[in-house]
Amino acid sequence: MGPALERHVALVGFMGAGKSALGATVAERLGRRFVDVDREVEATTGRTIAQLFGEGEALFRAKESIVTVEQLRRGPPAVLALGGGALGSDKVRDALRAHAFTVLVEVDVDDAWERARESGRPLAQDELEFRALFTKRAPQYAEAADARARTVDDVVLAAAAVHVETGALARLGELVPPGAVALISDARVAGIHGADAQVALGGRSVEMHELPEGEEAKTLEVISRLWRALRLDRSGVVVALGGGCTTDAAGFAAATYLRGVRWAAVPTTLVGQVDAGIGGKTAIDLPEGKNLVGAFHWPARTVVDPALLATLPERERQEGMAEVVKTGLLAGEPLWELETAELVRRCAAFKSALCLRDPLDAAERNVLNLGHTFAHALEAAAGYAGVTHGRAVALGLRAALKLSGVDASPVEEVLRPQRVRVDRERAWAALLRDKKRADGHVRLVLLEAPGRPVHGVERPEQEVRAALDELIEG
Ligand SMILES: NC(=O)c1ccc[n+]([C@@H]2O[C@H](COP(=O)([O-])OP(=O)(O)OC[C@H]3O[C@@H](n4cnc5c(N)ncnc54)[C@H](O)[C@@H]3O)[C@@H](O)[C@H]2O)c1
Repeated sequence: MGPALERHVALVGFMGAGKSALGATVAERLGRRFVDVDREVEATTGRTIAQLFGEGEALFRAKESIVTVEQLRRGPPAVLALGGGALGSDKVRDALRAHAFTVLVEVDVDDAWERARESGRPLAQDELEFRALFTKRAPQYAEAADARARTVDDVVLAAAAVHVETGALARLGELVPPGAVALISDARVAGIHGADAQVALGGRSVEMHELPEGEEAKTLEVISRLWRALRLDRSGVVVALGGGCTTDAAGFAAATYLRGVRWAAVPTTLVGQVDAGIGGKTAIDLPEGKNLVGAFHWPARTVVDPALLATLPERERQEGMAEVVKTGLLAGEPLWELETAELVRRCAAFKSALCLRDPLDAAERNVLNLGHTFAHALEAAAGYAGVTHGRAVALGLRAALKLSGVDASPVEEVLRPQRVRVDRERAWAALLRDKKRADGHVRLVLLEAPGRPVHGVERPEQEVRAALDELIEG
C-alpha cells in the first residue's frame, strides 16, 4: 500500500483498544488534525452515543456511517479514530479503501473487557455478549487493515511503510510489494545476505545487480550502467539491500528508471536502518559535492531487520551511533542506551514521524540536521577523505550542544569525538557555503533543551566560527 503521505491514517479496532488516546498522540507526532469520530457523531447530532443507542442501534449505525464517510472524504490528511462497529457499513469500508491507510489497533479480549466494562458503553454491559462480538468483528478488522499496531511508534512506522522486525529478511517475499524484482546490492552485502534475500523472495522473477561498495555507488556512471542493465517493466520493484550508499543509489535509479518504478529499501547498516532507508530521499554525488542530484521517492516498503546488523563491522556501527545519539537528543530520550532491536525501532519511528510531517524537507524535517552544518564543513575541508561522516557528526553535535548550552555528556561518553586535523579557513569557507545558508546568514539547528529542537537559528558569526575552531586540532 505504501506510505500514508496523502491519505488519512484511520485507526480501527474493538472498543477498549485505546484508539482515541493513541490517535491523539499519533496526530501530534505527525502534525495532523485528530478526529475522534464518535465525538463527531455526538457533535453533529447533539446527542451522546448512549442516547443515540437508546433510540435503536440501527439509527445510531446509520448516523455513524454518514459522519465517518464525511470525515474520510474531507482533507487535508488527518488521523481518525473510528468507532468499533463502524466497519459494519459497506460505505465506510469503501471510503477507507479510497481515502485512508487503515491501522488495526490490536487488543486482547481480556484487556478490552477490563477497560470497557467500567466505561458504560452500550455494548459493554454483558461479558459473554462482549466476547462474542469481539470474535465476530475480528475478521472485519483484519480485512480492512493495511497494518496492525499496539503502540504509537508502531502506528507511525506502519504509516511510513516501515516494517521493523527481527528476522524480517526471511519474510521479504510477503513484505515487498508484488511484481518482478531487481535486487540491488554491493558485493560484500550480497555475499553475506544476498542468498537469504533471494530465497525469501521465493518464486518471483529476480534479476540481480551489483553496485560498487560505499560512496562509489553514488555516481552517474554507476547509475547509468544500472539503468541500462535493468530489465523490469513498470510493474516491477527495485529492492535495495545494503547500506545508505546502496539505498541512495538504487532508490535514485528507481525514481528515474521508466520515469519511476516502486522500490523497497532493505537497509543493512545502522545508518541505513535508523536514517537512510527512511523518508524517501534518494541521491547520487557530483564531483562538486555530495548528494547534489536526487529525487524524493518514498519506498513502497522499508524492511528493517535488526538481526542483519550482527555482521556489521564495529566501525560501521559507530557511524550509525552518531545518528542514534542525534535522534535521542532530538527526541529528548536516551535512545542510545536501548538494546539494538529496540534502539532501531525507536529511532526509525522518530525519523518516520518527522518525514511524514514534512515529506519534502521544507521545514520541521530540517531538525535532522542537528550537528550536520559543522559536520559537512569538516568533511568538505578534509576533501571527504580521512574523516568519516560519523566522526564529523559526533564533532558537529558537540558544537551544536555547546551553542545550545545543553549538556554534551551523551556525545562525549557514547561517541568520544576526536578532533580532526583540517585547514581552519577551508572548513569555515565550507560552512559558509553550506546549503542551509539562507539570505546571507548561517542557519543552525540547535536545542532549547533535549527534546526541543529549533531550526533556522542565527548566531553571531564569531560564535559559530569559535565553535567550529574548537573541533579542529592544532
Ligand atoms: N537518504 C537519506 O536520507 C540518507 C540519510 C543518511 C545517510 N545517507 C547516505 O548514506 C550513505 C552512508 O551509508 P552507510 O553508512 O550505510 O554506508 P555504506 O552503504 O557505504 O555501507 C558501509 C559498509 O558496510 C558494508 N555493509 C553494509 N551492511 C553490512 C552488513 N550487514 N554486514 C557487513 N557489512 C555490511 C557495506 O558493504 C559497506 O562497505 C552516505 O552516502 C549518505 O549520504 C542517506
